[in-house]
Amino acid sequence: MKIETILSPLELPALARRDLRRTVCVVFDILRATSTFVTALHHGAAAIIPVGEIAEATALCQKQPGFLLAGERDGVRIRAAQKWDKHLACLGDADDVGGTGQASSPSHYSPVDFDFGNSPREYTPERVRGKTIVSTTSNGTRALLACAQAKVVSAASFLNLTATAELLSGENEILLVCAGTGDNPAVEDILAAGALVDLLSPGKDTHSNKSSNSLVARAAYVHAVPAGLENAIASSENGRRLSAITELREDVAFCAQRDVFNLVARMDAGGVLRRV
Ligand code: MLT
Repeated sequence: MKIETILSPLELPALARRDLRRTVCVVFDILRATSTFVTALHHGAAAIIPVGEIAEATALCQKQPGFLLAGERDGVRIRAAQKWDKHLACLGDADDVGGTGQASSPSHYSPVDFDFGNSPREYTPERVRGKTIVSTTSNGTRALLACAQAKVVSAASFLNLTATAELLSGENEILLVCAGTGDNPAVEDILAAGALVDLLSPGKDTHSNKSSNSLVARAAYVHAVPAGLENAIASSENGRRLSAITELREDVAFCAQRDVFNLVARMDAGGVLRRV
């Protein structure tokens, strides 16, 4: 089994030039997109459709009125009449950005309030059972879409790490994809990738079929374990960002739980994530 790892979202565009037809891609966005998708599917959501842009999400839900809209920009639920820049910042009111009097580009604002943000704790059985959820997040959904041509694409998290590892047994080419934050690597994604490398091949590695990135991820994970995974995740940049938002603070501990769900979230050829 060959295990490669992408540590930074800046490496994602190169995937478009790569033949992934024999590769199993496992995408991690621990805080919080992939943790959220796994939770929603565990709680009975029928499907999650990851999309890159706010406008795509709202257009899809307009065509399919039963679908629910989900996602975040800058960590918080997308609301009507606010304009967001490409990745993170809220720029102000959609119809008067920064008081300039200019109309907003429709791709970066929503005409409606989204049903969900990106907190896994919102995705309760009562709210998601049987539902199809269209989600756009800052990095996680883009990372999944970047892997779309792969043999298998899975959204993974600490919540279902062992179940995900089981999916990989017997596979020859594995690519672990850390979604990161904005253009930067995210520690918690690297820790999860490292934990999966460790699960797939515990102990020391002399003759390596793992890329150096995979070994770096595993070393980071092994180093973090003694102090506790939750502490390592809480002290990451994203952990601190979420902890500073009262209503999102508990997401950090939630996403740091290990193996509480026994399911694999797999994206089909049509780009739809389902439980397998
Ligand atoms: C992302 O897709 O970048 C994240 O999931 C962001 C977040 O949930 O705050």
